[in-house]
Formats: sequence, structure tokens, C-alpha cells
Amino acid sequence: MRADISRWDEKYRPSNPNPSFDPEPLLTDYNTLLKSGGRSLDIACGVGQNTLFLARSGYESYAVDGSLVGLRYLKERASETGLNIYPFAADLDQWTPPADTFDLIVVIRFLNRTLFPAIIDSLRPGGVLIYKTLNLNFLRLRPDTRPEYLLRPGEFSRAFSSLAMVATDEGEEGESCTTFFIGTRPLTN
Ligand SMILES: C[S@@+](CC[C@H](N)C(=O)[O-])C[C@H]1O[C@@H](n2cnc3c(N)ncnc32)[C@H](O)[C@@H]1O
Repeated sequence: MRADISRWDEKYRPSNPNPSFDPEPLLTDYNTLLKSGGRSLDIACGVGQNTLFLARSGYESYAVDGSLVGLRYLKERASETGLNIYPFAADLDQWTPPADTFDLIVVIRFLNRTLFPAIIDSLRPGGVLIYKTLNLNFLRLRPDTRPEYLLRPGEFSRAFSSLAMVATDEGEEGESCTTFFIGTRPLTN
């Protein structure tokens, strides 16, 4: 993981022009699913724009990433706001989230298929998963991308079939380079 992470560290350095710190639009589009007072986890949080949004929405907001530079940015913002934000570092090739812990898990622009089962287990009954990442259509824009980092058609629906699907978009017809899946863990699971 190290080589990969130093690339992200470099990207997140304050000397670089920063990416947008607006939250992922799915979080605002589906804000009726957000429940103030729960516990959320932002996996591969980067600089934590989604973590901050969830904390502002009333979550006790946990965030994990391997980039210490991104996490430092989030920690500074967290202490300025006084919100309930808990950033921590982990190697997501090794770490898995604890079982039955989160009311909401958000994963945006990160793919590690081995984490899928642990993500499901980590949701509390009734908990919500919001997962969006690049799919194979992205190869048309960037043919040099390693295809194993890109989602295949139907992959989310198969991997998260034990969740009750709320919404999904596969980016069919080459229209979109991203796929998203939103689902909830059934109360009786
Ligand atoms: C494309 S960025 C997405 C960041 C954020 N979710 C967003 O939407 O802005 C991917 C993130 O995954 C993190 N990452 C990649 N591989 C990782 C690993 N093995 N362990 C921990 N973090 C990792 C990077 O540090 C980076 O912040």
C-alpha cells in the first residue's frame, strides 16, 4: 500500500490546489436516509469532506484512510468545528470494520473487494450503505487504469444482495464512469 498512499499524501498537501470539499452529491440527494444521532463510518475518507458533512448531519462520525496528510487536514477541521469526528489511520488492505457497529457506512471512490463482507457485517440492523466508485467505463477516458480497480457490471448488486436495495445506478451504456449502490441491512438479519 505504501507507494499508493504517498501519491495521495502528495495530492492532499496544502501546497497543491485542493479538490472540492463539497460533500458527495449522493449524501445530499438521499439525505432522507440520514439519521441524526447514529454512528457513521467514512471508508477511505481522503480529506474527509463526507465525514464533515455526516458530522454536521448529527452523526458520531468515524473516518479511516491511509493518508496521514488527508487525516491531518480532517483533524484540523474537526477541532475547529467541535463536531463529533474521529479520524484514524489504517491500511485498508489489512483492516476491517468491527461487526454490528455503524448506522451508516459511506465509501466513495475506493474499491477493495475483500472488504465487502466486513462492510455488510459492520452495519447495525437498519444501517445504510452508500457506496460509489469508478466502473469499467472509466477505461474509455483513462485506458491506462488497472481494470481490477474498476467495478464490473452487476458487481455491487451481487456483493450486497443481502442488503435491501434502496437505489443503484450501474452507469450502463457507457454514459457514466461511476456506479453506486445504496442499501440497508434488514432489521431481522
Ligand atoms: C480517490 S480517493 C477518495 C477519497 C474520498 N473518499 C473522496 O471521495 O474524496 C481514495 C482514498 O483511498 C485511500 N486509500 C487507497 N488505498 C488505501 C489503503 N490500502 N489503505 C488506506 N487508504 C487507502 C487514499 O489515501 C485516498 O484517500
